[in-house]
Amino acid sequence: MIEVKNLSIQTSKGVVLLDHVEFTLPPGVCTGLTGASGSGKTTLLKALMGVSDGDVSINSGQILLDGEDLLKKPEKVRRDLCGTTLGFIPQNPMTAFNLHVPVGTQMSETFRKRLRLDKNAARKLSVDVLQKVNLLDTDRVYRSYPGQLSGGMLQRATMAILIGLSPRYIFADEPTSALDEENKAYLIQVLMRMKQQAAILFVSHDDAAIRTLCDDLLVMQSGTIVEYGATVDLFAAPHKEWTKEFVRLAMAEEGGGWTWQKSKSEM
Ligand SMILES: Nc1ncnc2c1ncn2[C@@H]1O[C@H](COP(=O)(O)OP(=O)(O)OP(=O)(O)O)[C@@H](O)[C@H]1O
Ligand SMILES: [Mg+2]
Repeated sequence: MIEVKNLSIQTSKGVVLLDHVEFTLPPGVCTGLTGASGSGKTTLLKALMGVSDGDVSINSGQILLDGEDLLKKPEKVRRDLCGTTLGFIPQNPMTAFNLHVPVGTQMSETFRKRLRLDKNAARKLSVDVLQKVNLLDTDRVYRSYPGQLSGGMLQRATMAILIGLSPRYIFADEPTSALDEENKAYLIQVLMRMKQQAAILFVSHDDAAIRTLCDDLLVMQSGTIVEYGATVDLFAAPHKEWTKEFVRLAMAEEGGGWTWQKSKSEM
């Protein structure tokens, strides 16, 4: 389990980015994280992964992984956790790949390094997981450079790496925002399956994805968690103005994306 306690982060100029943030990520649970642009969601994910920008510092708090504070671990230990224990799904899958190396080579290298597999086993695992995410033209995908694949295909390749590494924690930063409906539905389906063995933190503005996937929901505002509870409860009774508007728009969308209003002549 991951427990974030009293986490505060500020920039070198003293601007507070996260203010006494607290929540837990138990196994088998997907927790959504939403809130206005600039409220601190990505800052929080970076802190969890241990890849915070150089000019921000953690002022107080703990990030406990099974009771041990990650903030007290040496950088190398934290780096080794990335991928195998802590998995990340980026908003733009292009940023996850080196553009000058074929996708398959990058996958195999990742599996060799992270899972200590030999060359053949790593290649076999790459092919297996590409097939699992329905990239059935596997040889072509394996040999392609990132720029030769569509955004949806690349995001599937990211998911394939995640399935291969099978991390216990998955942090996803708006992973559906660049995807078409089919790839979005597919990614949510894969995460639903992975939720059985992992704890997921799912940053999103997509109310439908949140309601499908997330058991709990955190709402962030100016670096503070302003709402935290079961997703169904928050949607039924939002407290803060931002959450009320988010829920109102979600309900309007459910009705077809518009609300019918009588014109003056009909009244
Ligand atoms: N290294 C940094 N130095 C100074 N300010 C920073 C730094 N990193 C982030 N910030 C600021 O912290 C705030 C939170 O940024 P963050 O990227 O976490 O927001 P977000 O909630 O992920 O937004 P979005 O929904 O647009 O992705 C912003 O005001 C941003 O400008
Ligand atoms: Mg962000």
